[in-house]
Amino acid sequence: MSGEQLPFDGRQYQARFDALAASGTDVHGEASLVRRYSPATVLDAGCGTGRVAIELSRHGIEVVGVDMDRSMIAEARRLAPGIEWIEADLSELDVGRTFAVVVMAGNVPLFCPDGRRAGLVATCARHLAPGGRLIAGFQLDRGYLLDEYDGTCTASGLALEARWATWDGQPFSAAAGKDAPGYAVSVHRSPVADENGPMPTAAETSGATHESTTR
Ligand SMILES: C[S@@+](CC[C@H](N)C(=O)[O-])C[C@H]1O[C@@H](n2cnc3c(N)ncnc32)[C@H](O)[C@@H]1O
Repeated sequence: MSGEQLPFDGRQYQARFDALAASGTDVHGEASLVRRYSPATVLDAGCGTGRVAIELSRHGIEVVGVDMDRSMIAEARRLAPGIEWIEADLSELDVGRTFAVVVMAGNVPLFCPDGRRAGLVATCARHLAPGGRLIAGFQLDRGYLLDEYDGTCTASGLALEARWATWDGQPFSAAAGKDAPGYAVSVHRSPVADENGPMPTAAETSGATHESTTR
């Protein structure tokens, strides 16, 4: 399949989340999961209007946001001019530094033209520091399957560390995406540099008790 609903209207996209937040809905589930890993630096890959990056920045985390959609990035810049926002296609980007976490929230690969998805994931992997984590959530019933995503992660040197059905840690069922539509939040990790020792797991840093399926 090819990218969905492009281009975006950044103002309209943000207005939907503003309305949800105003109605009391928690719109920061993705940022909450990322924060459990206590990263000092985060690359928000496919940042849109900056919903996740801005929330992480509010908690003192150094963030960079990248998106190829001009309208989305313009809205992110308007909302948080102090954050570094890069308008670029992630399938062929070099930001020139690495991050403790790269996050893809909100179905990013589904909005990427399919011929560029492997490049998107490989770019995310290349921007991880040793022991860093790629955290991504997307629907499994829209033509991009976990096997393909996992395959690109593995080819990029990452190992699957955890997988949930939701950003708040509901258990993942292997039937999702095959026998039933579903959603997966995956955490893949880059190899740990020996001399620094392993980075802490989410459970170690926060006492989180999420069940995870590691395979
Ligand atoms: C549904 S939006 C999610 C935005 C934001 N992460 C959020 O959760 O609110 C998906 C975003 O992924 C971006 N995207 C998809 N493929 C991309 C690529 N190859 N490079 C940069 N941005 C990409 C789209 O432009 C779009 O803004």
